[in-house]
Parts: sequence; C-alpha cells; structure tokens
Amino acid sequence: MSAKKIPHRLYLTEDQMPRQWYNLRADMPEQPDPLLNPGTLRPLAVEELYPIFCEALARQEMDGSKRYYDIPEEVQEVYKMYRPSPLIRAFNLEKALGTPAKIYYKFEGNNTSGSHKLNSAVAQAYYAKAQGITRLTTETGAGQWGTALSEACSYFGIDLDVFMVKCSYEQKPFRKAVMGVFDANVTPSPSPTTEVGRKILAENPGTTGSLGCAISEAVESAVTAGNSRYVLGSVLNQVLLHQSIIGLESKAAMEELGEYPDVVVGCAGGGSNLGGLIAPFMQDKLTGKHDPRIVAVEPASCPSLTRGKYAYDFCDTGKVTPMARMYTLGSGFIPSANHAGGLRYHGMSPILSKLYHDKFMEAVSYRQTEVFEAAVLFAKLETILPAPESAHAIKGAIDEAMKCRESGEEKTILFGLTGTGYFDMTAYEAYLSGTMSDHVPTDEELQKGFDTLPDIPQNKGI
Ligand SMILES: Cc1ncc(COP(=O)(O)O)c(C=O)c1O
Repeated sequence: MSAKKIPHRLYLTEDQMPRQWYNLRADMPEQPDPLLNPGTLRPLAVEELYPIFCEALARQEMDGSKRYYDIPEEVQEVYKMYRPSPLIRAFNLEKALGTPAKIYYKFEGNNTSGSHKLNSAVAQAYYAKAQGITRLTTETGAGQWGTALSEACSYFGIDLDVFMVKCSYEQKPFRKAVMGVFDANVTPSPSPTTEVGRKILAENPGTTGSLGCAISEAVESAVTAGNSRYVLGSVLNQVLLHQSIIGLESKAAMEELGEYPDVVVGCAGGGSNLGGLIAPFMQDKLTGKHDPRIVAVEPASCPSLTRGKYAYDFCDTGKVTPMARMYTLGSGFIPSANHAGGLRYHGMSPILSKLYHDKFMEAVSYRQTEVFEAAVLFAKLETILPAPESAHAIKGAIDEAMKCRESGEEKTILFGLTGTGYFDMTAYEAYLSGTMSDHVPTDEELQKGFDTLPDIPQNKGI
C-alpha cells in the first residue's frame, strides 16, 4: 500500500469543526489549587466572581469536572467565518533544516485580529450579550487580544474599553486604529482614568506599563461602572477551555492524515494558546493512550515557568484580582521591553502551572534575537510573517527538529503558529538593523519580583 499523500495545507470542512470545547481539568489527576479571596484567604465561591465576570464564564472558571461544553450555536456561526484553521506541513522548513522530522503547524492568524485570541473573544462576548451586559473592559499587551475582543464586541453590539500597555500603544499606533474600526475605546495604561492607574503612575512616573497594570485598571473600570464586566484574554481556565478548539481541530486533522505528534510545542504568555493546543493530546497522555512530549516556550526576559516560583500570587500589579497558584515572577515584576508583548506576563495559567509542576510538561526559554532569527527563516520558507510570540514556538520546533537531525529520528512535531506579525515591524526592523538587544534578568532582578509575592501562610516555604 502506498503512503498517504500529505498536502501542504489541510482544511477540515465546516461539518468537521468540533461542536464542543474540552475541559482539560476533568482528566487531570490533581486539580489546580483553588483561587483565593485575597481578603479572607479562603477558596473563592463562584458567586464572588459574578461582579467581575459574566455568570456563565464564572461557572466555567470554577468547574473542574464537566469534560465537554457545547459550543453555543451563535459562537459556532462566528467561528465558521474563520475556522476551521489550516494544519500545515512545513515541507520547506524541514528541507532547509535537513531533518528527518515531520513538522506540522496549526495556523491561527487567518482573521483580522491576526491571532488565536478571537476564539475566546467571541465566546466571552457571546456570554456577556446573553446575560444582558452592555459594556466590557479588558487589557491588551501586544494588541491582538484587544483587537480580537473589539471584533467580537462589535459583532454582538457591546461597548468596549481597552486598556493597552503604554509601550505597545506608542509602538503600535495602527493596532489602536484597527480597534477603532470596531468602535473600541482605547486608553494607554497606566492611565489617570482609574484610581489604581493614578497610584501606579505616582509610584513609578516613567513606567511604560505592563499587562499586570492594565489588568488592574480594566478590573477597576468594570466593577465601578454599571452593567459592565471584565474579560481577560488568557491565563484563566475559561480561556483555555475556549482555546481547546485549536487542539481538537489539530487532532482531527492529524487523524485524517494518519499522524500523531511525538512532540507538541507552543509559546506561553499567559498560557491560553498552549493550553488549547495541547488539550486533547494532554488528555491522551493523562489517560495513558499516548505519551507525547509537551514543550512550552517562553522568552528568557520573562521566564515564569523556567525560573519562576510556584506560589499564590495576584494576577495583576495593582493587587485587585483574586489570588491564583501559578508559576510566577511576582506581580511586581516588570519585564524588560521584550518585543513579544504578549509574552510579557509575570504569571502563567494555573492549569499549565499544575501540569508543569506535576511533570506532564516541559519548558524552555529563548533570547529574543534567536527567536527573530527563527522568525525570519520561517517567513522566507513558509510565506507567513509570524508574530514575535509565535516565533518562540517556531524556534522551539526548529530545535526539536535539529535534535532529530542529530539522532536520525523521524519524529512528528506539531507546533502552534498563533498569529501574524504585521503590526510588529518595529521589532523586525530592530532585529534586521542589529539594534535588538537581549535582556536576561539576573537572579537579583528576579528576587525583586519574588519579594512582591503575597506573604501568606499558603506561600510559606516556597
Ligand atoms: C500572537 C500571540 N501569540 C501568543 C500570545 C500569548 O498568549 P497566550 O499564552 O495566552 O496564548 C499572544 C498574546 O498576546 C499573541 O498575541
């Protein structure tokens, strides 16, 4: 029998698109530790989240046992405008690397927001609409999440206020313009429009902001206004649930080709794309069906998994959110201005943190110049200009493929190509002109962040 011919791009049909999201927690041997109320230090009850999140989303956040969630029809209808996304075989990259490995990637950049973020934005805007919420607030780092949520809110007719990390706001004026197309109101963060923003500015007047600051402002802006809720583009369990569509489609497409990955690689900012991509493969691993290696890739400038502590921490800089147990650099850690803005977050999804802690997952970190070298090579060979965040996964996959070249193993590698980099040309220019630098924090610098971890009994001995 002749081997199956593998196409360059495989698109599932609309009918093959998954109709349910998969909740990875249902198959984890141990659950992530519960969110804590920072006032009482007790596990949070779901009702305590209702003033911040829409109720359906708060329930998804807290539910570790329901394995599959039906994707609402209205959400499926929007998904069909840009999904199923293609599974691509990187034939050219394989050839250029001279590797016997087979490299596949799932490309999520094929929508106006340019990334996977739309998968959760649509879901979150839908549940807000269903609850009669008229305004949402959020933060955005690189701008992809803000753009995605702007699109989703515009579709469902919801007002949106986006707090955008100041350095990205200044570096990427066109991101703001795209959000404007979808009627979002964009404010650089930290801003004088919130109490927490004024406090951060007073303490640190020259700050260029961080995701942690912008989250604090967006939460305050939601809970102090009428009929508003806050939504977050990563980290949360509910976001990983929505992003499971990436992994479910990848698995279905690979099955169609008679393939299964030996290694799954993804970049990790707050963990949403990686959590979504690995979901069904991790399910196989946890249930003993297969044993793929799972590799998270993060920037050396913001190394939450590889150098962080597994501790309870605030999800934001202003310490207004509940506390989550996760790998963290401390909510007071302000990362250097790494160009992959979406990976500049001090913490990591509690689900991924737990899986990493329990050794179901590995993590590596790279300096940004080596990441951009991989990005440029990939762009030339595969005709997609990757987002700097996504380029971390490319670099991770290339390194795995090079190991195969040395060992002669014909492994199957799957990685997540989360988005495109057309708004990141300042970063590409810096790389090409040789002015890009690599900042790897010293142990002393990291200690300053760890010193901001909450001094609570749960963190004793970490
Ligand atoms: C293109 C892209 N990839 C990856 C990420 C990282 O986020 P997450 O870890 O939640 O997938 C971001 C975040 O902004 C992004 O914009």
